[in-house]
Amino acid sequence: MEKILIIDDDKLVRKVFKMTLMKEGYDIIEAEDGPTGLQLIRSERPDLTLTDYQMPGMNGIEVLAEIRKSKTNMPVIILTAFGDVVLTIKAIQLGAFDFLEKPVNPELLKTTIKSALDSVNRSNKLMGVVKKDIPVDNALEHSILVGKTAKMKEIFKSIGLISMNKVNVLIQGETGTGKELIARLIHYSGITRSEPLVVVNCSALTETLLESELFGHVKGAFTDSIRDKKGKFELAGEGTIFLDEISEISHNTQVKLLRVIQELEFEKVGGESPIPMKARIIAATNKSLEKLIEEGKFREDLYYRLKVFTIDMPPLRERKDDINDLVIHFLYKLNKRFNRNVTKIGDGVIEMLQQHNWSGNVRELENTILQAMIVAKNDVLEKENISLINRFEGDQEKQENKELIVSLAEVEKAHIKRVLDLVNWNKLEASQILDISRPTLNAKIEKYNLIQ
Ligand SMILES: Nc1ncnc2c1ncn2[C@@H]1O[C@H](COP(=O)(O)OP(=O)(O)OP(=O)(O)O)[C@@H](O)[C@H]1O
Ligand SMILES: [Mg+2]
Repeated sequence: MEKILIIDDDKLVRKVFKMTLMKEGYDIIEAEDGPTGLQLIRSERPDLTLTDYQMPGMNGIEVLAEIRKSKTNMPVIILTAFGDVVLTIKAIQLGAFDFLEKPVNPELLKTTIKSALDSVNRSNKLMGVVKKDIPVDNALEHSILVGKTAKMKEIFKSIGLISMNKVNVLIQGETGTGKELIARLIHYSGITRSEPLVVVNCSALTETLLESELFGHVKGAFTDSIRDKKGKFELAGEGTIFLDEISEISHNTQVKLLRVIQELEFEKVGGESPIPMKARIIAATNKSLEKLIEEGKFREDLYYRLKVFTIDMPPLRERKDDINDLVIHFLYKLNKRFNRNVTKIGDGVIEMLQQHNWSGNVRELENTILQAMIVAKNDVLEKENISLINRFEGDQEKQENKELIVSLAEVEKAHIKRVLDLVNWNKLEASQILDISRPTLNAKIEKYNLIQ
């Protein structure tokens, strides 16, 4: 028989709950305040705790916080006065299983308790698959590459080869397949390890800005250039320059880049003396450069100079056997970041994820796991926690998933809001999680009218 602890300073409330729940076959123990309740938890080990919020001395949230310190999985349900949103959020953040408003509907109370106990039972049957903590060095942790499928193994081998030879590398693949991660791995696992890695996003800058970013400029080259500025090629030294979204560079910049690669030297904008170029270039693109060449938008000679070695990142839907390991990896990473403890994966979750199309690839999977983790109520990632949005699925499936289809803007808005709430509106952290710049985040907050 499952044991439930009721903590409430009102004797009458305790009595009513006790009667309702005893009829359901539960064993009931009672406490009239928080400290007594905490003692009973230690001595009697109840399976679930139901606590009032407003109590003299110690309130329900404080009781919850104490319980969570002891790292048990015991579900805690908090009862409070009607409509206290701030409190609800706080309680859920602290790991309350649920939050019920007074007066409590007895049916709702019974179903909530049942679902809490069921979820503990399910959790107990599952083994934890996510490691608690493995100390790793920070630079490495950010370049952990998960993948056991044949395609990924080939890529690992390539990285091994090229990390010891400073040839130029072109990484091609759909958005979110891990191109930047691969670039970092190439840089950090070989001969360039102790040299700088400099990242340039070619799509983020206009032609003139990009050139001065890449090559630097001398004082007076533009009206507002009041002193000499080093460019990324110079900053990269003998390390790596990562040119992300290389397809976006203008024709003129393509010509200049080609010359740098051919002559192994470059000049600052407005400058005269050549500077030697010693860095390795890794370029990435999610557009087909061959197609752009056909359309006359990308120079063929530059293409061949960049692709001395090419890595083609497979889309996630072509390596679904990696999904399980990726989910475990992301749970580990996100648990640590958000101080959560979701270490188990519910039945059918991986199968469900394997059926999805993943047009946003690994990044979409990571975001999906993050969202699911936010709504997970205990240590298990359940199917119900996961929301998959089929953006590019076939017609028939589209029909079946009609209720699921909302506009991208709506999803974006909700996701940004969730992430902001999760990090207490720390915009720096939110922009890192969302993988967008601070100004972009601010613009979106304004656009969607998001408020704290
Ligand atoms: N094999 C992998 N193992 C672990 N994490 C991965 C893997 N592939 C991608 N990721 C993670 O997925 C996210 C997206 O990866 P990344 O930014 O490298 O993709 P990308 O190909 O550069 O995308 P885009 O074309 O949109 O710039 C990152 O958080 C990255 O750490
Ligand atoms: Mg990228």
